[in-house]
Amino acid sequence: MRLNIVCIPGDGIGPEIVAEAKKVLDKAAFVYGHEMNYKDVLMGGASIDAYGVPLTEETIAAAKAADAVLMGSIGGDTTTSPWYKLAPNLRPEAGLLGIRKALNLFANLRPAVLYEELSDACPLKKEISDAGFDMMIMRELTGGLYFGERYTTEEGGIRKAVDTLSYNEEEIRRIAIKGFDIAMKRRKKVTSVDKANVLDSSRLWRKVVDEVSADYPDVTLEHMLVDNCAMQLVKDPAQFDVILTENMFGDILSDEASMVTGSIGMLASASLNDSKFGLYEPSHGSAPDIAGKGIANPIATVLSAAMMLRYSFDLDKEADAIENAVKNVLKKGYRTIDIMTEGCRQVGCKEMGDLLADEIK
Ligand code: IPM
Ligand code: MG
Repeated sequence: MRLNIVCIPGDGIGPEIVAEAKKVLDKAAFVYGHEMNYKDVLMGGASIDAYGVPLTEETIAAAKAADAVLMGSIGGDTTTSPWYKLAPNLRPEAGLLGIRKALNLFANLRPAVLYEELSDACPLKKEISDAGFDMMIMRELTGGLYFGERYTTEEGGIRKAVDTLSYNEEEIRRIAIKGFDIAMKRRKKVTSVDKANVLDSSRLWRKVVDEVSADYPDVTLEHMLVDNCAMQLVKDPAQFDVILTENMFGDILSDEASMVTGSIGMLASASLNDSKFGLYEPSHGSAPDIAGKGIANPIATVLSAAMMLRYSFDLDKEADAIENAVKNVLKKGYRTIDIMTEGCRQVGCKEMGDLLADEIK
């Protein structure tokens, strides 16, 4: 199979981790007889430096013409980088939001898994981490507060800012269907998370999710309020299979879920449209403080590449091979600094990429 992939290395540690993901993809392609065809494009701060804007029409066109997009990370230090002196719609993050919208990537999948080998890094009590967990956060990605009307004004000398949280039933239905479809391939449980005790958008969310669930009699559906969910994630994460939620709640809960796995450096993500097209990126940011030092953990990007093979190309065997390589390298005791524990061998970003590629045979 020929895979046409647009890569957005981005800013900070982005270029380092994308290079290692390509290395691992190339090895999988070699072993399983595929041809990788990469095209690198700019977005975020790198695009601002080159073109004055965080996202160009050329980058959008290149992404649309590809089979899938593999991204590193974008953005810089928000207090020191000159990018954050620009108007909000010209900052690096605007590029990411813009490409999500332009490519209609409404479904964001963020798996949070506690690896047995890393259970010591889990900050929860031992009896909780011993139970393990494996959940998929399904975050709506192109609606809600992120894309509603917003403005800042002044009324009678008082400064005022407004953000709008709005969802229509079609936006809710399509992400709910994806959530239930994914639950069918997992442990068949959906926890839909909302704030239906306060918000109208959440009350509609709940109704539409109930309607969709009628088509999935094998899937158990429960509704949970977002504040309770934040608590349950640290109290009993093993209860979750698929967490289905709107954009802002998903942003917050996925960071929380990633932290209980021990390191945000391990978490992959996929953002999908209604076909097989997707943008794949680690859940973590650009870590400008460690950029260029060769110590970043490339595993989240490598696992995002595995998700790409699985969801955009139906290459399950190849995706399994990459995921198993990660487990094996961890089992052998190799760690980047962020997941380092006593008795393990610390390696840098490149060396981790080499070890992972070597493990695919
Ligand atoms: C994420 C990030 C983005 C978001 C930022 C960088 C705009 O936090 O992908 O979770 O809030 O969606
Ligand atoms: Mg976030």
